[in-house]
Amino acid sequence: MNKESQKKSGRTRGQFVARVAAQLQRGEHHRALVLSFCGESAEVMACAEPGQFVQVACRDISRPRMSVPQLRRPISISGVSEDPIALGLGNGHCRDGCGREVMVRIIYRVHGPGTNWLAHQAVGEEIDIIGPLGRGFNLPKDKDTRVILIGGGVGLPPMFFSADRLKRNGCSDVLGIAGAATRGLFCCDLLNEADGIEDALVPGKYVREFGPSNTPVLLAADDGSIGFKGNVVQALDGYLKRNEQWRSAEVFACGPKPMLRAVANFCQEHSMNCQVCLESYMGCGIGVCQSCAVAMRSEGKDRESPKKYRLVCAHGPVFDAAKVDWDA
Ligand SMILES: Cc1cc2nc3c(=O)[nH]c(=O)nc-3n(C[C@H](O)[C@H](O)[C@H](O)COP(=O)(O)OP(=O)(O)OC[C@H]3O[C@@H](n4cnc5c(N)ncnc54)[C@H](O)[C@@H]3O)c2cc1C
Ligand code: FES
Repeated sequence: MNKESQKKSGRTRGQFVARVAAQLQRGEHHRALVLSFCGESAEVMACAEPGQFVQVACRDISRPRMSVPQLRRPISISGVSEDPIALGLGNGHCRDGCGREVMVRIIYRVHGPGTNWLAHQAVGEEIDIIGPLGRGFNLPKDKDTRVILIGGGVGLPPMFFSADRLKRNGCSDVLGIAGAATRGLFCCDLLNEADGIEDALVPGKYVREFGPSNTPVLLAADDGSIGFKGNVVQALDGYLKRNEQWRSAEVFACGPKPMLRAVANFCQEHSMNCQVCLESYMGCGIGVCQSCAVAMRSEGKDRESPKKYRLVCAHGPVFDAAKVDWDA
């Protein structure tokens, strides 16, 4: 689908009007917004890659200059599909007479004015979107590569998209590790009780969004209110001790910076390749304003030279974890 769509449209991103196809509660504090794209916008959004994001204008489309907030809000893409059922909807969500329709799911938590505005958009409302933006995860070319997807808090959504794409590419050894402080803070639908670490590892059973890719998932709650009691790094460590063959896996991670730093350190100590999806404050989202710069490690003879910075919006948000300067 990707290459074909790209050839048809000749564009990799754009500014589009999307229509709300669904607004769903996810967990106690999060929402999933499914956006419908038609025509050329559908061709472009179909090419989105896991790890990429959209810049959402969280304001009235008919009065853009009158309403706040003026800055767009970056939100990760958590799923792209032509099949509404794959994104947790019923069949009746397809639009008539729109040609090719592609649905894009984003998952968010209400933080401030932007996400609060999003939470009030009903089915049928129109939203101005720029995307897909940034560079996504480098997916393994070898189908036999094992991949561990680690998502903390609202860093989990890009992992659902990664799981779907890895499955489509034929990778079957994929494991999800989802972490949150407590049960109510998971940004997904927990379908059943998961009392123990082993019980939580039933493919697709406990997290609805991992269902279509049939990805087994290990839930880790800091307070032990569901799944493994502890953080995602402790859960990963325990899993690898019992499943040595997974030590060669590649790790994709997204979540709060302290979590990403801990995952990066763990992977470095255990010689595992790790890609991290970073967040930063963003102005433009397209590499112009420089507000999203992150420091990279200086290596070898570059050690004495001035720090190198990369833009999260344009060079990332996905980076090789070993290259990020976590202490900057
Ligand atoms: C690449 C990228 C992907 C993202 N994906 C998601 C996602 O999938 N779901 C989601 O809910 N959020 C995501 N975010 C974060 C989201 O863009 C911000 O939380 C946004 O500011 C919310 O807008 P608001 O107006 O509701 O809240 P604001 O008023 O802008 O912010 C509310 C609070 O969040 C803090 N904050 C704002 N932006 C950030 C940030 N980038 N990092 C840390 N703290 C911040 C502010 O200091 C403030 O305390 C992502 C951010 C980036 C850069
Ligand atoms: S947000 Fe403007 S350069 Fe990255």
